[in-house]
Amino acid sequence: MNFKTFPRFMLLIIFMYLFITVRSLSGSDTISQNKSLSGDQTVASVGEVFVLGFFTPGNTSNYYVGMWYKNDPSQTILWLANREKSVSNRFSSELRISHGNLVLFDETKNPIWSTNINSTSTSARAVLQDDGNIIVSDERFILWQSFDHPTDTWLPGSKIGFNKITKTKQVLTSWKNLENPSLGLFTFELDPSDVSYITLWNRSRNYWTTGPWTGDIFTLVPEMRHNMICYFKFVSNNSETSFTMYAYNSSAISRLVMDVSGQMKQFLWLPSNGWKLLWSFPRQQCQVYAFCGAYGSCSENSLPFCSCLPGFEPNSQSYWDLKDYSSGCMRKTKLQCGNNSLDDSEKDRFLEVPSMSFPEDKQSERAESITECESRCVNKCSCTAYAYDDNGCSIWTGDLLNLKQLTAGDSSGRTLYIRLAASEFSSHGKKKKKLVGVAAGSAAGLVVFLGLILFTWRHRKKTIGTGKAISGGSLVAFGYRDLQNATKNFSEKLGEGGFGSVFKGRLADSTVIAVKKLESVGQGEKQFRTEVSTIGAIQHVNLVRLRGFCSQGTKKLLVYDYMANGSLDSHLFHDNDSNVLDWRTRYQIALGSASGLVYLHEKCRDCIIHCDIKPENILLDAEFCPKVADFGLAKLVGREFSRVLTTIRGTRGYLAPEWIAGVAITPKADVYSYGMMLFELISGRRNSEVYEDGTAKFLAASAASVIVKGGDLRSVLDPRLEGNADMEELKRVCAVSCWCIQDNEVDRPSMGRVMQILEGIIEVDLPPVPRSLQLLVENQESVIFFT
Ligand SMILES: *[C@@H]1O[C@H](CO)[C@@H](O)[C@H](O)[C@H]1NC(C)=O
Ligand SMILES: *[C@@H]1O[C@H](CO)[C@@H](O)[C@H](O)[C@H]1NC(C)=O
Ligand SMILES: *[C@@H]1O[C@H](CO)[C@@H](O)[C@H](O)[C@H]1NC(C)=O
Ligand SMILES: *[C@@H]1O[C@H](CO)[C@@H](O)[C@H](O)[C@H]1NC(C)=O
Ligand SMILES: *[C@@H]1O[C@H](CO)[C@@H](O)[C@H](O)[C@H]1NC(C)=O
Ligand SMILES: *[C@@H]1O[C@H](CO)[C@@H](O)[C@H](O)[C@H]1NC(C)=O
Ligand SMILES: *[C@@H]1O[C@H](CO)[C@@H](O)[C@H](O)[C@H]1NC(C)=O
Repeated sequence: MNFKTFPRFMLLIIFMYLFITVRSLSGSDTISQNKSLSGDQTVASVGEVFVLGFFTPGNTSNYYVGMWYKNDPSQTILWLANREKSVSNRFSSELRISHGNLVLFDETKNPIWSTNINSTSTSARAVLQDDGNIIVSDERFILWQSFDHPTDTWLPGSKIGFNKITKTKQVLTSWKNLENPSLGLFTFELDPSDVSYITLWNRSRNYWTTGPWTGDIFTLVPEMRHNMICYFKFVSNNSETSFTMYAYNSSAISRLVMDVSGQMKQFLWLPSNGWKLLWSFPRQQCQVYAFCGAYGSCSENSLPFCSCLPGFEPNSQSYWDLKDYSSGCMRKTKLQCGNNSLDDSEKDRFLEVPSMSFPEDKQSERAESITECESRCVNKCSCTAYAYDDNGCSIWTGDLLNLKQLTAGDSSGRTLYIRLAASEFSSHGKKKKKLVGVAAGSAAGLVVFLGLILFTWRHRKKTIGTGKAISGGSLVAFGYRDLQNATKNFSEKLGEGGFGSVFKGRLADSTVIAVKKLESVGQGEKQFRTEVSTIGAIQHVNLVRLRGFCSQGTKKLLVYDYMANGSLDSHLFHDNDSNVLDWRTRYQIALGSASGLVYLHEKCRDCIIHCDIKPENILLDAEFCPKVADFGLAKLVGREFSRVLTTIRGTRGYLAPEWIAGVAITPKADVYSYGMMLFELISGRRNSEVYEDGTAKFLAASAASVIVKGGDLRSVLDPRLEGNADMEELKRVCAVSCWCIQDNEVDRPSMGRVMQILEGIIEVDLPPVPRSLQLLVENQESVIFFT
């Protein structure tokens, strides 16, 4: 660049700067005295990130003014003005500045929505910014901003909190249904008392909380904060208590939304894939209070989630079709109670519905038998249902709310007797049996949901004595004092996992043991012993053997064989160039851990999904024989399981996509994690590395792309092996790992098949690059879901 061109170049820059500035003063991002919004016009932010305009939700012809992400063809609405009142003709409606406010006028020139500020400013204008905030300001002040008035969506840069001076809250309120943005029943707001966010039904009933803020995370939703997408800043001073959400990278577009389902959801925009769900809470749909309305029954095992109780039908099928179940169900036939001119055969009767969770507002009645309990209900015309169990007689009067249909095997399921008109029974002959069949049928779903990790086909009957050694299974019941002595008062810590810390110990006969101190076991004594004996009965050369346990009050410990060579990660990811695991050993580890998983999934009587396969959970004995650790613990921890689950979910880089989507988990989730682990075994490096600037690198993604494109496999091999590997075996491991991490579970092989491929019994082609990894490679997008 010479001196002559330099000033010209600068001039150009200055000119362009001015041009941009002027453009933004009265540009297409602005609504001013002179420029309004009407018809199919839109206002776009300077960087063309967000767009404001008229839209119709779903198939309706009701128009609203809303804002969406410009590149989003589905026009997901992130903010809207006139939630409660739509216009029918957008061309004769107008959003403009009027008396210092931003006001929407309908076809008849009536103002139907306004920013409602006390302003008479003649220079007010509204600007849509690149962060999605609409700011109304005059020359000096910001008069109003849409970030202070969110609808159902929380965007990065805005805050949700409580203003102590005006005593007002920012509240996210769900849409009424998919086609109606007016205020729905579910809200998300800050609970200033313990600095947590809560979700409410009808602004009154709290059905979920994030748990209190620890200064770093919300205790029950670590993924809300521990992701590479956004973080929160907390402020509490004399004027407000609030959190502001910030994006790590402003070009990563994400949103939190209070969905019509009553769940809080976080989505991330992926340019080639649209909005991707990262998490939703509460995790299960039926945890949303009264989701199915009165007399509606919620089941996790059926789609749609809601159905009406037998003898009832939706109050409004059209609302149900729009996923708004709040209107609930109504009786098909009126009750006859109180009509004295009836035969016995015409009197109301009770239908037995098994495996239900009790509805709200139960009243206890004194009754010695189920017949007496029934008559308590019969004698009250307002009584709609009764139940009789160990806790005695309960009756319900009025609408039945928050009903859940549980799976047939769920021990918290109760039998509910629902009052129906006699004709509901007689008109279809054997109707009664059939109706019960429907209810029980939907309970018999095969799907295993989050939080239900072990499912038992047959209960193992095995008793554990309270004394010393136990016959056959040879599980030893230790005293706490014994283990305290053996571990020198828990002084030598071997590691820490999702379920508790592990300590090294030595028994009196000098056997070396590993003692796991379980945290927060929510189970009773009997159940704990049953589960422990189940785990103890699972024995396989590639599974860490449980030797015994200790159960004294709240102290619950498990005693395992000690593994001399520690966990796989300590051998894979270290800088020390000596003691590198050679290829042969690595291949044996791949085979052995696969064999252990085959046993868990297919061979032992209780199918166990491990859920947390990673190098830390593959232990190596003195001969470097791999042993899978930590299986079967999920059920032991019982109620507290969801907390543990979130810890497990925190294990980055090994999680199958279905974990993130919050859907059913099958053994294929283990296959995914196993595949991820294979990449690390081959390369000797972590699959994802997060750097201090918040960006991350995905080794698995690059490796998969090399493998699938038929590149040089040596380039993915651990450089410390200096190319010393059996190429045939390397080829097999590479192909297997790529198959294991396919997005769609169906495409992943079972662990049994993985074994066969590794053993060379069957051959496989190269798989496609999994879509989610492809995205990472193509866009070099620095997004990882959990750190
Ligand atoms: C609006 O229009 C009036 C008259 O047409 C003009 O004087 C004024 O400068 C315009 N204002 C802006 C911000 O363009
Ligand atoms: C809108 O209408 C189309 C065609 O009638 C239909 O296929 C689609 O399911 C409807 N969408 C909604 C949300 O009702
Ligand atoms: C608006 O301003 C007027 C005059 O300054 C004042 O009397 C009134 O209380 C204000 N209203 C609000 C809601 O602040
Ligand atoms: C919500 O609460 C209001 C009173 O606060 C009540 O009138 C209304 O019926 C409730 N809605 C439902 C669906 O129960
Ligand atoms: C409280 O914090 C907010 C956000 O940091 C700030 O804007 C406000 O001025 C503070 N108020 C007081 C009274 O310190
Ligand atoms: C009472 O029962 C009789 C016989 O079924 C019926 O005709 C009558 O309509 C009922 N009365 C009421 C108020 O439901
Ligand atoms: C933000 O993301 C974009 C595109 O994904 C990327 O080009 C950019 O380097 C990222 N910026 C930072 C600071 O990570």
